[in-house]
Amino acid sequence: MQNLSRKKFLQYTASAGAAVLISSLESWAKSIPQKKLKVAVIGCGSVSNRYLPQLLSSKLIEVVSLCDIKYDRALAQNRQYNVNAHTYPNVEAMLAGVPFDMMVTLTDMQAHEDLNRKALMAGKHVWSEKPMANTYAAGKALLSLARSKNLRLWGAPAVVNSPQFEFMSKTIQAGTLGRIASAHGQYGHTGPTWSAFFYEKGGGSMPDLGVYNMATLTGLLGPAKAIMAMTSIVNPERTVDDKGKIKVEAEDNAHLLLEHDKGIISHVMCGFNYFDPHGHEAGTQSLHSIQVYGDKANMRLIGYDWETNGVVLDNSWTEPAKLLSTDKGGYEWQEGARVTGESIVNGTEPRINVEHALHVLEIIEAARESSATGKKIMLQSTFKWPMA
Ligand SMILES: NC(=O)c1ccc[n+]([C@@H]2O[C@H](COP(=O)([O-])OP(=O)(O)OC[C@H]3O[C@@H](n4cnc5c(N)ncnc54)[C@H](O)[C@@H]3O)[C@@H](O)[C@H]2O)c1
Repeated sequence: MQNLSRKKFLQYTASAGAAVLISSLESWAKSIPQKKLKVAVIGCGSVSNRYLPQLLSSKLIEVVSLCDIKYDRALAQNRQYNVNAHTYPNVEAMLAGVPFDMMVTLTDMQAHEDLNRKALMAGKHVWSEKPMANTYAAGKALLSLARSKNLRLWGAPAVVNSPQFEFMSKTIQAGTLGRIASAHGQYGHTGPTWSAFFYEKGGGSMPDLGVYNMATLTGLLGPAKAIMAMTSIVNPERTVDDKGKIKVEAEDNAHLLLEHDKGIISHVMCGFNYFDPHGHEAGTQSLHSIQVYGDKANMRLIGYDWETNGVVLDNSWTEPAKLLSTDKGGYEWQEGARVTGESIVNGTEPRINVEHALHVLEIIEAARESSATGKKIMLQSTFKWPMA
C-alpha cells in the first residue's frame, strides 16, 4: 500500500467497483505489479559513483541506460555497479535507444542546459545536477517546455530533504527564534582536481558549492528580494587531471548578501580556496556551517547542509545550548534523483521544488552582475514557502 498514492487507490477502487472483492488490502496491493520508472544516467564521472548506488537501491527505479562522451566511463560504471544497462556515447544515441522515462544529468555544468532541453523535447522527465541551465532565463524556458509537455523537471541540490532542514524550518515557523534578523552559510574546500569545467566560464564556486547554502537559507528564510555580492578569482591558474594547467575563468571566491522579507539579511560565502580537512567526507564534522539568529534564540547546523550532523539550539539565558535533531533519517545529499523519480511513480509531491532551484539560479546570475557593476540587483523569482 505504501507505494500507491491515496488518489490512485481511490481511482482504482472506484473503477473496480463492488465487483472486486478483496480479502485484504495488503494482499490486493501485493497482487498489483509495481511499474518501475526507467531511468537513463548521462555523465558517468565522479558524482555518478554517489548517484548510481542510490538509484539502484530503489525498488521503484530501473537504470536502463548509461551515457558518457568518454564512452569507456559508461562501460566502466555499468560493470562496476552491475547495472546491466544499455550504454551510449552521446545523448542523441541514448534518446534513440531503449525507451526510458527520466534522464538524470550528471555531466559538466556547462552541458546541462542543452542536454536537459534535448531530453524534455524527447518527452523525458529530468533530474539535473546544478545548475539546470546556464542562465535563469534559460532555466525558466526549460520549465515552460517541461510544463507544456506535462513533464517534470527538477534541479539539485536536495538539501531541503534533510531532517535537520525540516527541524530548522519548523523551529523558525513555530516562532522559537523570535524575530529573525540574520543568517550565515559557508561552504568551501580547495577545489576539485579532476575536471577543468569547474573553473571555466559557466562553472565557479557559486553553482558548485554556494548553491547548497543559497538553497538552505532561502528555503529557511523565504525567497530573496535583492542581492549584493563580491566575487573574485584568488587562484588564477590550476592543474587538473583532464586538461593539465588551465586558466581559472569563473569565480573561485564569493560573498553574497541576500535581502529576504521583513528586513532579514543572510550571507553566503563559498570558494575553492578554503582549507577544510573534511573535504567531500564530512560525517565527523563537529563545527557548524549554517547559523540563524533571532532575538529569542539562535540555531547552528552542525556539519554541512549536504552532510547534516545535528542542530544546536541556543534559547536560554541560563541553560547551555542543546544539540538536537541528530538523526539523519537516511538522508544523503545524492538522493535527489531517487526521491523525485520515486515521487513520479508514487504520484506524490516531493519537498524539492523546481521553482526553488530556479530562484537559486537567478541568485547566482545576479551575484555575478552585482559584483561586476557594484550594484544591488533586484530578483524576480519566488517559490512556495515555507517549505516544511
Ligand atoms: N563530484 C562530486 O562530488 C559532485 C558532488 C555534487 C554535485 N556534483 C555535480 O555533478 C556534476 C558532475 O560533476 P563530476 O564531479 O561528476 O564531474 P566529472 O568530470 O567527474 O564527470 C562529468 C562527466 O560528464 C561527461 N560529459 C560531459 N559532457 C557530456 C555530454 N555532453 N554528454 C555525455 N557525457 C558528458 C564527462 O565525460 C564526464 O565523464 C556537476 O554538475 C557537479 O557540480 C559533483
